[in-house]
Amino acid sequence: MPKTGSTAPPAAAPKKNTASPARSAPSKPGAASTRNSAKPAAAAPSRNSAKPSAAAPSGSALEIKDTRTSKTYSIPVAEGAIRANDLKKIKTDNPDDTGLMSYDPAFMNTASCRSAITYIDGDKGILRYRGYPIEQLAENATFLEVAWLLRHGELPTQQEYDQFVHDITFHTYVHENMRKFLEGFRYDAHPMAILNSSIAGLASFYPSARNIFDETERNISIIRLLAKTPTIAAFSYRHVKGLPFVYPDNRLSYVENFLSMVARMSESKYEANPVFARALEILFILHADHEQNCSTSAVRGVGSSHVDPFSAVSAGVAALFGPLHGGANEQVLRMIKDIGSVKNVPKFIESVKTGEGGRLMGFGHRVYKSYDPRAKIVKKLADEVFNVVGVDKDLEIALELERIALADDYFVSRKLYPNVDFYTGLIYRSMAFPMDFFTVLFAIGRMPGWLAQWEEMLLDKEQKISRPRQIYIGAGERTYRSRLTKT
Ligand code: CMC
Repeated sequence: MPKTGSTAPPAAAPKKNTASPARSAPSKPGAASTRNSAKPAAAAPSRNSAKPSAAAPSGSALEIKDTRTSKTYSIPVAEGAIRANDLKKIKTDNPDDTGLMSYDPAFMNTASCRSAITYIDGDKGILRYRGYPIEQLAENATFLEVAWLLRHGELPTQQEYDQFVHDITFHTYVHENMRKFLEGFRYDAHPMAILNSSIAGLASFYPSARNIFDETERNISIIRLLAKTPTIAAFSYRHVKGLPFVYPDNRLSYVENFLSMVARMSESKYEANPVFARALEILFILHADHEQNCSTSAVRGVGSSHVDPFSAVSAGVAALFGPLHGGANEQVLRMIKDIGSVKNVPKFIESVKTGEGGRLMGFGHRVYKSYDPRAKIVKKLADEVFNVVGVDKDLEIALELERIALADDYFVSRKLYPNVDFYTGLIYRSMAFPMDFFTVLFAIGRMPGWLAQWEEMLLDKEQKISRPRQIYIGAGERTYRSRLTKT
């Protein structure tokens, strides 16, 4: 199997196979999907039914004394929060005073919604989708089962699941004009730029998707996005490699079909390595949602203008592209490549601490202040994949980075631990995915979360168009006097 930079496809067969199950028939990776049955799709989406997790006793309030006016205010406290809007009533006698605001750049301590989808306890390293621990879902569920769960709030019955899988399989093809659109990109286009604009472009093919309050329209848009994202992603890979596009093979499961579109050459039926197929399925599950992260907030924010879901989700893809978010998986490998050797690790760590070496990519998280539970699963998964392909040459550097950082006061005192992106890149590379494709894989996984969060936002009666306030610090009023010399 080829390495990064080659034109040959990833994931078809192991490279340094020790006990190769390479071309054996996939053994139903991820409790593979049965595709049959005929049952109408789409149980009604679950309404926002968030239970207070840090509920204060009713009647709890915050007493605030404004030293500017000596007035005292009582601000209700519910679910561990005050309503920022309640601060508005705290005013001075100045008639221009519109009331107190809270100032929170980057939303360090501001809840933007009530959500029933994903629960994180960052101190304890807990992640649950709709109440189910991530460890159990990663071990036992399929990605599409998790996608259904995120949206509907309950695990699907067999009938619901079969219909869901059928619907998604049915919608994997993209319009031929989309293919021409993709062909317009340069050979060296970053696949995230291709994915982002192509997903936005889907809005032009489905104008009725703008009827976002029509449940049938919402349902078909969600199915289309889940079904077509892997196709577009795979086409972006093939385009960059100069390989012919491979159309979806509806006999295959979701993950196998994706791998087939990426890697199939002249075989009549592509058979993915079952270890790779299951590993990718688990990675998709681990990435499926992560509550109000940067890209999900982008989807909710853009969606709050009531634009169609393709446009809203493309904003999520754009946000994910950034190196501080989903783009970190690519940056981890670039960082490791720059470090070059285990012996250079201590020097590199020192340069991170002084700020000269940039950040230790794949470390740190806004919410997790202990080991990211996804990173634990990924580390174990890496062992399973390396058992098939042989140990990645850079694993040693990664392990040494982790070992030194976890014992160093700079990282310990700031509670910086490996996050999900630290080891994923090594797995993806072992499957021969090129570095700039890693974040695309993250995007395929995150799609169900974006969609569930988008729909929850739309159906939440408290939500309005997203529109933060600002503290104006610019010039006062001044009179226009042109500085141009040619009139
Ligand atoms: N390497 C070195 N120092 C770091 C790192 C890091 N990776 N992350 C945070 N710090 C330091 C930072 O310099 C600051 O130090 P000080 O208090 O002395 O100024 C302190 O830790 C707090 O950092 P912060 O920037 O205020 O934290 P944040 O919550 O705003 O940032 C983060 C979170 C993920 C953007 C950041 O940790 C980071 O840049 N990590 C590297 C990029 C990365 O791995 N991103 C993937 C995140 S997980 C996948 C996803 O969901 O996107």
